[in-house]
Amino acid sequence: MSGLLAGKRLLVTGVITDASIAFSVAKLAQENGAQVVLTGYGRLSLVERIAKRLPEPAPVIEVDVTNTEHLAGLADRVREHVDGLDGVVHSIGFAPQSCLGGGFLDAPWEDVATALHVSTFSYKSLAMAALPLMSPGGAVVGLTFDATKAWPVYDWMGVAKAGLESASRYLAMHLGKQGIRSNLVAAGPLRTIAAKSIPGFDQFEDAWAERAPLGWSLTDQEPAARACLALLSDWFPATTGEIVHVDGGYHAIGS
Ligand SMILES: NC(=O)c1ccc[n+]([C@@H]2O[C@H](COP(=O)([O-])OP(=O)(O)OC[C@H]3O[C@@H](n4cnc5c(N)ncnc54)[C@H](O)[C@@H]3O)[C@@H](O)[C@H]2O)c1
Repeated sequence: MSGLLAGKRLLVTGVITDASIAFSVAKLAQENGAQVVLTGYGRLSLVERIAKRLPEPAPVIEVDVTNTEHLAGLADRVREHVDGLDGVVHSIGFAPQSCLGGGFLDAPWEDVATALHVSTFSYKSLAMAALPLMSPGGAVVGLTFDATKAWPVYDWMGVAKAGLESASRYLAMHLGKQGIRSNLVAAGPLRTIAAKSIPGFDQFEDAWAERAPLGWSLTDQEPAARACLALLSDWFPATTGEIVHVDGGYHAIGS
């Protein structure tokens, strides 16, 4: 088998439609030689239907990242399809409506806690659930939205992403001795289900259209997916705790 990820076995979370960033990662990974196992959350039959649109139909395992039983059983469920994992992709985010769209000052702790549980803590939980299957050279990759700034409508999701960025550095520190890397891709705005749930998301769209030096497509998930593949590959063997921006260069430009 040839390709950037030839022979690699990947667990890819976060597919819900074919616009999901995770779908592009799974598709490109298969096209580049990887074997892919998906996880699905909630509407499993929908995820299974989308999985059939991949070049190779991929098995789907149910994982709610806040469910400790799902996490405890994950390694055994994955072993039914592959004998180990070379990479894990965390492409998961959720915040209740109160946490988004300008509600920062009023969102109750219970809602904020949900956002942090699903979007931040789960990065560590997923990595630990998959760890028994991983060996030196393995990689964990997640998706963030540049959390070094406060964005107009991102609110507690921005705080959750700041936590995710920190959690990735801590994971890099704690798993480094086992030879496992942890890196994030900071993608620009993309029209996915998660994005549509953010009231005022069009503000990001307009800002990127005006300012990204390379320009930016809101409907092309492939650049972000390519970066995920690169970080999962053997071509970043000494890189961990890193955040790679895939945003048309937006982050580098002052207003
Ligand atoms: N779309 C963007 O503009 C953008 C930009 C930067 C980063 N991101 C990040 O990319 C990642 C993927 O999002 P997307 O834009 O592809 O949207 P998406 O809606 O396609 O994917 C989000 C996924 O999270 C899953 N999920 C939610 N709660 C879960 C739970 N409890 N357990 C397991 N899975 C759960 C959903 O099932 C869904 O598959 C997220 O971390 C998101 O924050 C998105």
